[in-house]
Amino acid sequence: MSSFKSISGTFDILPEGHTTGGDSIAPSRVWQYVEATIRKVMEAYGAEEIRTPILEPTELIARGIGQLTDIVSKEMFAFERGDTNYVLRPEVTAPVMRAYQQHHLDQKGGVQRLYYIGPCFRAERPQKGRYRQFHQFGLEIIGATDARADADTIACAVDVYRALGLTDFTIRLNSLGDSESRPRYKDALIAYITPFADQLSEISRNRLQTNPMRILDTKIEKERELLKNAPLLSDFIDEESRQHHEEVKGYLTSIGLKYVDDPFLVRGLDYYSRTAFEIESDSLGAQGSLAGGGRYDLLSLELGAKQVIPAVGFAAGMERLIMALDAANLADIPAPRLDAFIVALGDAALTWTFPVAQSLRAKGFKVGYDLKGRSLKAQMREASRQNSRYVIIVGDDELASGVAEVKDMDQSSQTSVPFAQLASHLTK
Ligand code: HAM
Repeated sequence: MSSFKSISGTFDILPEGHTTGGDSIAPSRVWQYVEATIRKVMEAYGAEEIRTPILEPTELIARGIGQLTDIVSKEMFAFERGDTNYVLRPEVTAPVMRAYQQHHLDQKGGVQRLYYIGPCFRAERPQKGRYRQFHQFGLEIIGATDARADADTIACAVDVYRALGLTDFTIRLNSLGDSESRPRYKDALIAYITPFADQLSEISRNRLQTNPMRILDTKIEKERELLKNAPLLSDFIDEESRQHHEEVKGYLTSIGLKYVDDPFLVRGLDYYSRTAFEIESDSLGAQGSLAGGGRYDLLSLELGAKQVIPAVGFAAGMERLIMALDAANLADIPAPRLDAFIVALGDAALTWTFPVAQSLRAKGFKVGYDLKGRSLKAQMREASRQNSRYVIIVGDDELASGVAEVKDMDQSSQTSVPFAQLASHLTK
């Protein structure tokens, strides 16, 4: 056996569930089921899939997400090859906006609704629910300022969770205002926090210099206490953004979606303006953020567009979703069944098996057989491991008579079936 192992913070997805570094990784069929549900919900929102490369120019991500964010300053898998700087994408919003601009998708008219499912990479300290290669699904609605687009993205994420049976989550919502609101607020926040600076953790003290609004995100109880009377962003945002925020909330209320208006919600990416939201699992604990998103009208300018391309979207972690499903016993997807497993005894029967399996498969049946020429008992064990509905048994006698023995594993019965009638027998 190889002495190589998957890199810490990454994992294999196998046909059977397994445990890696203390984390249980669901079988591939659970991933497929979740992905199929996502695609169905996305289609209900009129979204079409976009697939962008895993490799992107480092500069795109640095400019898009912001130089001072944790993602860009500490967590990028970036490297140089020749005179090009590459990064393994840490998220998909900036790549989608790049693709939108590169392919002039605006010229197709109307609003683009683009969804994705795929891997992302962040060099974070691996722990339960936090990986170095993880998977996001998301929706970006590009070309609309309408508050319904903001509400639509939130509703879409919620619909994915509901379609999978998940109900124990909380939506937190805030408005970050326009590009002028934040500098105003930042100044007020710095003025409020600076007198307590020596009581802050090292991370928050650094953030006071680099990205003070991120201090609001602290999970440290003592710091939360210090921030209790901090100025609120909602008092600093511009009138239009306030109005927009009210509209978003109104739309959510109109469909009965409950949310928490959280003036301390700031996101770890710099491209947001106005709406920002997170969906948190009520059951996952520390890594409970299932999804995050918001409006990013100014990202287009950051990436070189001549004019603002309004956009809003969300992205959600697949691993955390599957963990939440698992915790709620909603990820029990039965293993697929074979229609028939051919048990072949003797060299002639082994040879016969190959074209017969092929012709049954061509008729739409799922067919397996033993590749090792093992005993009847071992082959029967394999048939039941693969949960086959029927077992077709063929040895020298059956080849001579042209009649196979067929066991119905559900009924525990056995019938003699002429070779020419095998397919019609399997459809019974
Ligand atoms: P984000 O909050 O950085 O936002 O990531 C979205 C989700 O990805 C998180 O809520 C979490 O479920 C999952 N996630 C992030 N990092 C990890 C990790 N290391 N391991 C496991 N799961 C992780 C964005 O990426 C934005 N692009 C969202 C967005 C889309 N905004 C507008 N459109």
